[in-house]
Amino acid sequence: MTSSTHAQLPATSAPGWIWDILVCPECGAPLRDTAGAGLLACEGTGCGFRSSYAGRVFNLLPRELDRFQRAEDTWRKSHFDALARSVPQMNPHQYEAFKLLNVITYYAFTSQFFFFRDYFAKTYTLRGRGLEIGGASGQLSGFVKLFYPDTEMLATDVAPINVEMGAEMAELLRFGTDYLATVDAERLPFRRESFDFLCSSGMLHHLGNMRRALRQGHTVLKPGGRWYVVNELAIGSLPRKFWNSRLGAKGKWAETTGIRENSYTLGEWRTHFADAGFRIVDEYFNRNSKQKLLSWPRSLYYAAIAKLPLALVKTGIPCEVNFVLQKI
Ligand SMILES: C[S@@+](CC[C@H](N)C(=O)[O-])C[C@H]1O[C@@H](n2cnc3c(N)ncnc32)[C@H](O)[C@@H]1O
Ligand SMILES: [Zn+2]
Repeated sequence: MTSSTHAQLPATSAPGWIWDILVCPECGAPLRDTAGAGLLACEGTGCGFRSSYAGRVFNLLPRELDRFQRAEDTWRKSHFDALARSVPQMNPHQYEAFKLLNVITYYAFTSQFFFFRDYFAKTYTLRGRGLEIGGASGQLSGFVKLFYPDTEMLATDVAPINVEMGAEMAELLRFGTDYLATVDAERLPFRRESFDFLCSSGMLHHLGNMRRALRQGHTVLKPGGRWYVVNELAIGSLPRKFWNSRLGAKGKWAETTGIRENSYTLGEWRTHFADAGFRIVDEYFNRNSKQKLLSWPRSLYYAAIAKLPLALVKTGIPCEVNFVLQKI
């Protein structure tokens, strides 16, 4: 993380519950806070993992990341570099406001907010301690804190630039997110049964080893805990051939950004969840075109498939799907 972000965070050591659940992301041994100096050290013999925290923002990334995981950071950095170049007249103070405005007016943010406000918060009751995985700028955690203020939230992502942004967003919007951290979904640095619920939005399909991430999530959940998997895609195996190819939207995106993009059929999702020890307690195909505002073709597409029988959509017509998983 950059020193500029650290400068905005409280310098004192982070108080509270995070210390009860932290373990080394590489060997699982306890992590020691080195005398409140902002440094973390693994107590495992021969491990040598060291890291840092500043205020309530923790770096819990393993030392080795694959190229796709690194691309999540480098691509986002290049995106913000281009944004900065587009407004050379702005001083750094103005640019900070400009950058944050760009984030909160972006489709992904507004559509997710509408989904959360109009569907999620009216449908589910969340209690206790939650972990968001692959949260980018952590807005889902922020929405959770806003609608369920008694919850405790830790927002995480594999890309440091996203977590920095998450800290800025949380401050700007007074989200009250308890902690933020860089974390790899496949190597969660938390003790068993640390969380009452997990949530992730559009994250699972980026993973190289989704099976491992699901098992890890299962381990850190308390018995009966739930994982709210939102904003994923279910797609038939035929349309997927095109969608993920060099000519399809996902294929092109993966090539441009270097980010890993997988797609799954509904049957594959269900199998993955069952194999990891989860029961699906809810499955919601979101076809609300008002929550698909990235582009008018996308909105139009969802308005069109909303008229089809759900059973037909489930046979493989590409559609956003949201799952609620329960640890068996
Ligand atoms: C499509 S974005 C979604 C971001 C945010 N949750 C949202 O819905 O707007 C996918 C996110 O997953 C994160 N991600 C990818 N691989 C990851 C991994 N191995 N562990 C944790 N996060 C990961 C990326 O950095 C990125 O922020
Ligand atoms: Zn270790």
